[in-house]
Amino acid sequence: MSDAPRPVYLNGEWCDTATARVSAFDRGYLFGDGVYEVIPAFGGRLFGLAEHMARLSRSLAAIGITEPLAASQWQGVFDRLLDGHDGQDVAIYLQVTRGASERRDHAWPVPAVEPGVMATVSPIGGPGRDARVITAPDQRWARCDIKSINLLPNTMARQQAFEQGCDEAVLVRDGLVTEGAATNLFAVLDGRLVTAPTGPQILPGITRGLLLDVVRHQTLVEVEESFVSLGALSRADEVFLTSSTKDLWPVVEIDGRSVGRGEHAGKAGPITRRLDRAFQAFKQSQRSSA
Ligand code: PDD
Repeated sequence: MSDAPRPVYLNGEWCDTATARVSAFDRGYLFGDGVYEVIPAFGGRLFGLAEHMARLSRSLAAIGITEPLAASQWQGVFDRLLDGHDGQDVAIYLQVTRGASERRDHAWPVPAVEPGVMATVSPIGGPGRDARVITAPDQRWARCDIKSINLLPNTMARQQAFEQGCDEAVLVRDGLVTEGAATNLFAVLDGRLVTAPTGPQILPGITRGLLLDVVRHQTLVEVEESFVSLGALSRADEVFLTSSTKDLWPVVEIDGRSVGRGEHAGKAGPITRRLDRAFQAFKQSQRSSA
């Protein structure tokens, strides 16, 4: 599927990955003036759709773009993108930009132009290897809660990780871990599950939120939403990342040192594995009840 052209919804029309074209004056292209979502679908069923669409609405409202499509119109787009993918795990990528305006001006066009809307679908790769990560300075802006298409600091951090043979960069601001370049981070410290609180310093990950609901509902482990210091991260018994395309992703090495101690050193830890089982069961239950 990766080589064959994939369907693309673009500004009200259907085309494919080989033919999709946007205006050189689209403000997403000129300024990174837009927001996006990545919504997974497992076995043809969208997972966490309501949460993803609520986050999209919050992102759009935060940057003053009016909702371009009604919920039923989005659903029509998703249905067409998912057509024929019943047996596969795929991710829908959608983005909304402020639209195209031939006058390049930082201030928004008056009157407002039609938002640029794009959505497509791609396969989600298998689980892959456990994560080896680096730590890197968090060089992002002060509104990381908006799922902005401005991802330059994220792409630079992830690239730095790749160049060191690693899979992800864990971002650190003022000695405190915020999140990964494209993931949220959880650490197990003294038997508690700790993750950064929502707020302007992190993206409120949908996987993060759903996992916390499962953990609290089933009282699997005590949860604390507070920032993990770099020192605490290096002493953590277990560390894992979450995202819509990776679910729970065990971290086995940080800056070249194994995570965990004794028999668990450098391996996915017992709490991570237990939470992963609970999360997979939750996913399965959503699938059968959808
Ligand atoms: N990234 N933090 C950041 C900075 C992210 O970019 C992402 C997701 C997450 C996890 O959020 P969620 O659980 O809602 O996927 C956390 C997506 C997958 C991406 O940019 O491709």
